[in-house]
Amino acid sequence: MSHNPLIFSGNSNRALAEEIAKRLKLHVGKSLVDKFKNEETRIEIGENVRGSEVFVIQSICKSADGRIGVNDALMELLLMIDALRRASAARITAVIPYYGYAKQDKKTKGREPISAKVVANLLKITGVKRLVTMDLHAAQIQGFFDLPVDNLVAMPVLCNYLKNEDLCKDRIVVVSPDAGGVHRAELFAKRLESSLAIVFKRRPEPDVSEVTDIVGDVSGKIAVVVDDMISTGGTLAKAAEAIKARGATKVYTVATHGIFAGDAMRVLEDSEIERVIVTNTIPFAAGEAYTKFVQLSIAQTFADTISRITTNRSVSALFDGEEGTTLPDAGPSEPAALQIASA
Ligand code: R5P
Repeated sequence: MSHNPLIFSGNSNRALAEEIAKRLKLHVGKSLVDKFKNEETRIEIGENVRGSEVFVIQSICKSADGRIGVNDALMELLLMIDALRRASAARITAVIPYYGYAKQDKKTKGREPISAKVVANLLKITGVKRLVTMDLHAAQIQGFFDLPVDNLVAMPVLCNYLKNEDLCKDRIVVVSPDAGGVHRAELFAKRLESSLAIVFKRRPEPDVSEVTDIVGDVSGKIAVVVDDMISTGGTLAKAAEAIKARGATKVYTVATHGIFAGDAMRVLEDSEIERVIVTNTIPFAAGEAYTKFVQLSIAQTFADTISRITTNRSVSALFDGEEGTTLPDAGPSEPAALQIASA
């Protein structure tokens, strides 16, 4: 198998794929990823891939311009993998910075699908040999695959940003916005050498959240609420309101995946939150009307991971700080260019 990896990308987050390729001193391979007139997805790989190690980069999310929906993104990914397998690629790795459908990872009531498992089955059937993703909504989704799964974390990049802004130590309290996020918040609190608080929320119906209680002291501190994803923005907006009411001086929020469904950006812009910090696993376009949003790049984390997979080196060492690596702890190398707006 050739040691020079080939990178391909669909249309959901092409900017990220190009940034990853650039950091690897590669280019995104030629391919036609389009639609037929009847709206079915049309794929043609434009380069020889025979015997090659191939990485297909595609988040399962809508594109920034809204032309590609979540389901289009999934279909593009599956058909690209199928085309590459039939063109005799030696090994295909799906690089899915944001693994969509992950919230539906179990039956919560009768007659519901387990959509995250369906996506895993589809990837397996099309011929994926390995998955690289980031901050899966539930780490157990790794078990839906009988393949190697690298579930990367954005925490080092996010924490570096917070430390650079002096949002650490006893100036802040790290807050989990729900019981499910306590472990993640504990890791952030440890890394930022700060205390921890927990918001308890309930969901009376899907996509609606209510705060029921807060455990821990937030009074007189800057609260940094950490979550894996922002969808409607309701969880963070409501948490910020409750935290402020308990005496926090300011509220910052960090999350890996900024989905920003519907009017989420407006909800967050109008909320008590000072700044909304996300990564570029999902693209988004913030107009001038939005002043609170900061997007950090995790391209280097993915580039390093691809490089290590290709050369059979440890991926987890990236996060242990072994082998003298400075990445991803070095954080975004071009934060200014990527910062969409900050308060
Ligand atoms: C919940 O388990 C997740 O970690 C997020 O808190 C949730 O998905 C955010 O959703 P929304 O922004 O719609 O409240």
